[in-house]
Amino acid sequence: MEECQRLGLAKAIGVSNFSPNKLQELLQHAHVPPAVNQVEMNPMWQQRQLRDFCKRKGIQVTAYSPLGASNTRWGDDRILGCSSLQEIANERRKTVAQVCLRWAYQQGVSMVPKSFNRKRMEENLQIFDWSLTKDDLAKISNLPQRKGVLLRDVLGPHDLVKEIDMEA
Ligand SMILES: NC(=O)c1ccc[n+]([C@@H]2O[C@H](COP(=O)([O-])OP(=O)(O)OC[C@H]3O[C@@H](n4cnc5c(N)ncnc54)[C@H](OP(=O)(O)O)[C@@H]3O)[C@@H](O)[C@H]2O)c1
Repeated sequence: MEECQRLGLAKAIGVSNFSPNKLQELLQHAHVPPAVNQVEMNPMWQQRQLRDFCKRKGIQVTAYSPLGASNTRWGDDRILGCSSLQEIANERRKTVAQVCLRWAYQQGVSMVPKSFNRKRMEENLQIFDWSLTKDDLAKISNLPQRKGVLLRDVLGPHDLVKEIDMEA
């Protein structure tokens, strides 16, 4: 990838599903540190330790499955169906999806929500003219944490995938 960038074939180099350990290993050898690390991140898998590490190293975090990947092969509706998030959404007159995306935005990460539905795509963009309060953020930081997306469910069984799932 460094060669691709040197040749002008890639503007920047990014990685995905890299834990602090894997990033540390990469940084020991890389001439060009990764610009971005794309990982699962949402109110129920907040990745605080990884985000601290990336911040110190100047690596931007991108959140995938920011809505918990409901109705996909690898996700479930623990986030869109979460009653605490629903309470916050009711108070702000927003949807749970918007609360999740606004929360990610207020954490300073970029994000890749997926929707095939035009109305929901528009809904997901309406997060920039309001904000979550300190109380909302405190409630969200107290939510139980559990990794939701196992790479073996996304990519199928593979030894390397198993190793990443165990570390992440
Ligand atoms: N790098 C990696 O290893 C990795 C792993 C997993 C995923 N990803 C990427 O991350 C991106 C998004 O992740 P994801 O698809 O796993 O999860 P996600 O964006 O958290 O959730 C997608 C699901 O949420 C629904 N949805 C979207 N907006 C909604 C809204 N406003 N209200 C209610 N439901 C809504 C979508 O349904 P509709 O389409 O019907 O709206 C879809 O079922 C994808 O581009 C994916 O490729 C990367």
